[in-house]
Amino acid sequence: GVISKQRTDLNEQKKYFATDRTDDILNDEGKDLLATVKEFCENEVKEQCKAYDVSGEWPKEIYDKAMEMGLGSLEVPEEYGGIGIDRVTISALYEEMAKADAGFYTTIAASNLGLKPVLIAGTEEQKQWACDILVNGGYGAFCLTEPMAGSDPASCKTTAVKDGDEYVLNGRKCFITNGAVAGFYVVTAATDKALGNKGISAFLIPAGTPGLSAGNEENKMGIRTSNTTDVVLEDVRVPAGAMLGKEGEGFKVAMKTLDMARTFVGCGAVGVAQRCVDEAIAYAKQRVTFGKPIGKFEAIQFMIADMEIKTETARQMVVHSLTLMDKGLDYNKESAIAKCYSGDIAVEVALDAIQILGGYGYSREYPVEKLLRDAKIFQIYEGTNQIQRIVISRAVMGKF
Ligand code: CAA
Repeated sequence: GVISKQRTDLNEQKKYFATDRTDDILNDEGKDLLATVKEFCENEVKEQCKAYDVSGEWPKEIYDKAMEMGLGSLEVPEEYGGIGIDRVTISALYEEMAKADAGFYTTIAASNLGLKPVLIAGTEEQKQWACDILVNGGYGAFCLTEPMAGSDPASCKTTAVKDGDEYVLNGRKCFITNGAVAGFYVVTAATDKALGNKGISAFLIPAGTPGLSAGNEENKMGIRTSNTTDVVLEDVRVPAGAMLGKEGEGFKVAMKTLDMARTFVGCGAVGVAQRCVDEAIAYAKQRVTFGKPIGKFEAIQFMIADMEIKTETARQMVVHSLTLMDKGLDYNKESAIAKCYSGDIAVEVALDAIQILGGYGYSREYPVEKLLRDAKIFQIYEGTNQIQRIVISRAVMGKF
């Protein structure tokens, strides 16, 4: 009857909260996928990326293999040729990627960030075109940030001027993940400067369009296996049909994109935090001081417990936000909390991991100093954690 049906639903729901491991809440297909991705990340990404972290080179061979496996198109909906898995499962896979190498995760998650505005506002044709690029092993890039418009993208200087059936774009975007490797670019530009955020429009532009080029490549502190460049637009002519949504809707499309993307940033941060916990435990069990492994001392046990509390709480916030998203419910505040909290704790947990490893933690011979460098970006990109606090306070206080 109705009640037993309700009880089954409740038990299903409880699964999200009663266990402390994402693996346990996945269905069989999700578990199989996770096992495959774990194996790939462990054998083909984790150790290999160490050398690329030093050189700063984009590890094309690793990405080629990952794209061949279909890891770049996990967020492509089934109707456009994707494998059609739920977001909680995707987050578990992204977490594995970030655990192995946060730059590797960033390349893939930011490519799917570029797809989101197309899925939010594109025509069927635009959606299919962009999805095909990811399914066939290509990348997307989301070009919102500018040298003088980071936290405040409404003040963008890039312009798009209508000329007959075309728009002509001029400007410079910066800090663009996949800037030099993307197959398509989503670019925001002012179509009417006088209208502020209501005068911004978004365009879907194929790589190779004359006038669009990758500029300066950033030499970054962390996530060094990801490609981050300026994207320069010099008299880039696109047909009017390249616009995503209507003229003046670009800012809102960008905001909706970021709402959706921020939880996925959270799961990247959780991956880094989990790796810190794993490295700290492994070290604490084998490093002997005063005649016993340091993990036998309460000082270390409590640090590890606090690291675990933070990591698991962040993971559950990510799962909660994605569950809301999968159910079609509002997630604006939850996504900002997931991103903000996970980014903050990733840095804290990385610092603790370094402390547990002591002098070795500070050495480049050991993996945890890289984890701190990688963790820091999660407090900065896709909206600084100060911006997340604006979003959260507005959600609970309203504008007054
Ligand atoms: N969904 C839908 N509409 C939204 C919205 C949302 N989440 N947020 C705002 N809007 C709408 C508002 O309703 C408003 O519309 P109306 O006037 O019709 O009501 C309009 O947009 C303007 O809103 P605000 O006045 O709130 O805008 P604001 O200028 O104060 O900015 C902000 C709000 C949240 C601070 C926003 O500017 C912001 O998110 N800034 C951070 C930008 C960011 O995250 N950049 C990261 C770039 S991506 C990146 O890092 C990628 C990478 O490579 C990894």
